[in-house]
Amino acid sequence: MSTTTDIPAHVAIVMDGNGRWAERKNRPRTFGHQAGLKALRKIVEHSGRLGIRELTVFAFSSENWNRPDKEINRLMELFMRALDRETQQLHENGVRIRFIGNLSAFSSDLQKKIDLAMSRTRNNDRMTLNVAANYGGRWDIVNAARQLARAHAEGKITSEQIDEQLFSQYTALQAKHDPDLFIRTGGETRISNFLLWQSAYSELYFSDVLWPDFSPQELDKAIAEYRSRERRFGMTGKQAGLASARGQ
Ligand code: IPE
Ligand code: IPE
Ligand code: MG
Repeated sequence: MSTTTDIPAHVAIVMDGNGRWAERKNRPRTFGHQAGLKALRKIVEHSGRLGIRELTVFAFSSENWNRPDKEINRLMELFMRALDRETQQLHENGVRIRFIGNLSAFSSDLQKKIDLAMSRTRNNDRMTLNVAANYGGRWDIVNAARQLARAHAEGKITSEQIDEQLFSQYTALQAKHDPDLFIRTGGETRISNFLLWQSAYSELYFSDVLWPDFSPQELDKAIAEYRSRERRFGMTGKQAGLASARGQ
């Protein structure tokens, strides 16, 4: 069987399970979110070592506003603190930070910190870390459609020009490279409105490990599994084997 031998260029992760991790330790859910941030730091470092070019992580979904105010407030505090504490280190390691999502819902202080982190690191090219915050896959698609409608109304594009390629450019990830590998930790086997458009052909990997326990070794396991998969993109197994032998 032909398999992909490459490290995935782009990995997307639904970092789920922080709350349960904390509850199992009889600690408040926020304690789990703090531990989740530590896990993310290690995963970013390890991804850089492995040569992953782009990592897109789900930090806060458009549906997470449904949580109790107290948890939301603590999460916002944690984002602020993380931006203050982590940006410099990421910058020194050549990581470009991008936030994707409807950022207008965040406080102006948080938006300022996000803008600063993005502009400071914008020229880094070792790895890109996309943080999805107030992100929803459906929001992303609707937002792209709205921008396309605007461009059309302004006479910048014709309706015939709208194809998958152009549409992708208007989505939050701007069609750089769709995720090769889509990981969800925490045992649930659903997408929860993450990268709906971009994960059309991602390899899905579900782990029962709760996010704070998702170690670099767990990422290695996910990548080993990814490398054993045959990515066929609609072709027959034989065709896919020939294509991967040609390095396509
Ligand atoms: C994921 O962990 C982090 C966020 C959604 C912010 P959860 O908080 O969903 O943890 P569980 O699923 O309740 O364990
Ligand atoms: C998805 O996890 C969002 C993030 C990890 C940020 P949730 O815990 O919010 O997803 P559901 O509610 O179980 O689908
Ligand atoms: Mg959850």
